[in-house]
Amino acid sequence: MSHKIAVIAGDGIGPEVLAEGVKVLNAVSKLDPEIQFDFTHFPWGCEFYHKHGKMMDDDGIEQLRQFDAIFLGAVGYPGVPDHISLWDLLLVIRKSFDQYVNVRPIKLLNGAPCPLKGKSAQDINMTFIRENTEGEYAGYGSWLYKDKPHEVVIQNAVFSRVGCERIIRYAFELGRKEKRSVTSVSKANALNYSMVFWDQIFKQVEEEYPDVKTASYLVDAAAMLMVTQPERFEIVVTSNLFGDILTDLGAAIAGGMGLAAGANLNPERQYPSMFEPIHGSAPDIAGQQIANPLATVWSASQLLAFLGYPQWAERLINAIEHLLVEGKTLTPDLKGSATTSEVGDAVVAYLQANY
Ligand code: NAI
Ligand code: MG
Repeated sequence: MSHKIAVIAGDGIGPEVLAEGVKVLNAVSKLDPEIQFDFTHFPWGCEFYHKHGKMMDDDGIEQLRQFDAIFLGAVGYPGVPDHISLWDLLLVIRKSFDQYVNVRPIKLLNGAPCPLKGKSAQDINMTFIRENTEGEYAGYGSWLYKDKPHEVVIQNAVFSRVGCERIIRYAFELGRKEKRSVTSVSKANALNYSMVFWDQIFKQVEEEYPDVKTASYLVDAAAMLMVTQPERFEIVVTSNLFGDILTDLGAAIAGGMGLAAGANLNPERQYPSMFEPIHGSAPDIAGQQIANPLATVWSASQLLAFLGYPQWAERLINAIEHLLVEGKTLTPDLKGSATTSEVGDAVVAYLQANY
């Protein structure tokens, strides 16, 4: 089966890590000729913005629509305001393609560094299901009397019944399938409209899944518990902003930004889904071949799972774990001295040796 993949390498370390992700996917299709990839590269991002005054082609969304998946590096670079680079490329793709589920695994692999004393791979194994199209990132607000002494900004959050219900239901379906608990993270004591509504919908959906164990925390308590008792969490469902923040905390306890991946899914497959490492373009280390490509390899694993190849998805995770345990071919963020492309080569070598 041939899959059409749109590659948006983006800015900074994006192209460096994405090259390794593509390398690994090509290795998969060499080993298993039933799986074919047809990659199309798009030069969009901040450099494109400097040349053309926009982050992507005017009909960019139309161009992407025909693909089976989008593989994205990172977007954003000094010189282009972050709210432009983020909104005009990444967020427009997430919203246009109704990628309302952001799946972020927070799983401590064997061999990965963990700053929490006494916690091991058994304790840190969560799947964050973050709402990805509305909530606090709905982009709804206004800026009144700009630059005047009495200027006012209003940033609204949007929580629709459909939006809350479908993300919570997605978490419960996953919980049922994987026999894992579902935890809701909200903040109904302070956010007296949006989060009261969220909690109410969680309760309603919960009733349809009596076989799934549940828990519910306020976001501040959840942040604390992720550090002190991470073993409490299995599947976690939360809003756009809370999920954004808590998954960076999650990345920190599960090996760092160099190991954190995220999938932006349109579960109905009406539109392409998008797979990306969750880190940014890391301007501080860009162009030096020292960026860790393992987060990108992990997102390639999510891509393979979504396209229907769970065994290959697992092999990629095994490869990452093997590199971590062996400790010989890692980038400087993991206390190694390998280059970005040497790490990609080592993943490929593992796949070849273990197939
Ligand atoms: P960042 O994730 O780019 O970097 C944070 C720190 O983590 C830096 O010290 C960086 O060197 C390190 N780091 C990140 N990825 C790494 C990797 N693969 N290997 C080794 N070290 C790694 O976040 P920052 O600095 O806040 O943002 C930089 C730019 O990226 C900004 O323009 C921001 O808007 C953008 N950004 C884009 C995202 C995306 O495309 N999804 C997500 C987050 C930020
Ligand atoms: Mg983030």
